Amino acid sequence: MGKGSGYGKVILFGEHFVVHGVPGIVSATDAKTDAEVRKIPQGITIKDDRKGSKGYAEEKKLQQIESIERMLKIMGLPQTTAMSIWLGGDLPGFSGLGASAASSVAIARAIAEEFTLHFSDEQINQIAYEAEKAYAGNPSGIDNTAATFGGLLWFQKNMRGGSDIFEKILIKKPVEIIIASTGIVANTKAMVEGVAQRKKANPEKYNPLFKQAEELAFAGKKALLNFDLKKVGELMNENHRLLQEIEVSCKELDYLVDVARREGALGAKLTGGGGGGCMTALTPGMDLQEKVASTIEKEGFQVLRTKIGVQKL
Ligand code: MEV
Repeated sequence: MGKGSGYGKVILFGEHFVVHGVPGIVSATDAKTDAEVRKIPQGITIKDDRKGSKGYAEEKKLQQIESIERMLKIMGLPQTTAMSIWLGGDLPGFSGLGASAASSVAIARAIAEEFTLHFSDEQINQIAYEAEKAYAGNPSGIDNTAATFGGLLWFQKNMRGGSDIFEKILIKKPVEIIIASTGIVANTKAMVEGVAQRKKANPEKYNPLFKQAEELAFAGKKALLNFDLKKVGELMNENHRLLQEIEVSCKELDYLVDVARREGALGAKLTGGGGGGCMTALTPGMDLQEKVASTIEKEGFQVLRTKIGVQKL
């Protein structure tokens, strides 16, 4: 049997903009997806025991099959490769948390172990990027990079097709955040395509927003390095406004963002593809984290309590 894991992720700055070459900032979550792969005589079977994943896994079934076919191809294995795949771990199946990338990294690592293929982390990242195309159409690579390497990362897609640029951002100490799910399973591929179409159709509106997103990413990195959390929060709020302007937020996300800010979060924004999925809020200290998380839970939404900037990831 082969085993593997991949981290979940939360984008702090720059989702959607990163697809077009703007830098972004992402943190891996300590919650991760685990995979086990076993050779079997025929076919591919998938048993998905991921937490809260029922609706998510059903919606993403076809994309999941395509992602595995893509992986086999780039790994140099025949499409007829027969195996059973088990998925589990503590990463919830919320849209926006990088569940697809985490599962692709976990499965790629588990296949490599079961079929005695020796891949470096860079190669696993490439394989997961290929698999992500099934879920996101034209992904930036930010999700699979966080899922493979972990940590808090500065990321910029290489628009000329070479290796992407990424580096760890080291902060003074880990900071509590919350991630709340709207419960709506979002279609990342459709969201990414929608932004690309609107950007093309309306450059006068979109180009300045992309410029602002770039400035925000640099300001966000500076604020994180200075450990100026108040500033980080303000910039996250500003990032949410940009995401509203490019039409990827929705009323449920805006509502959760408002609740988090009202409860004292330093900043809150949607995270990931939007159109449902998740929001994240900066809630330093366990008391503030608990206050914001429990208020949102009382309203019937699921919440993940985690931290950004954990070094061991
Ligand atoms: C999805 O987690 C983030 C997006 O920017 C897509 C991508 O970067 O591949 C929406």
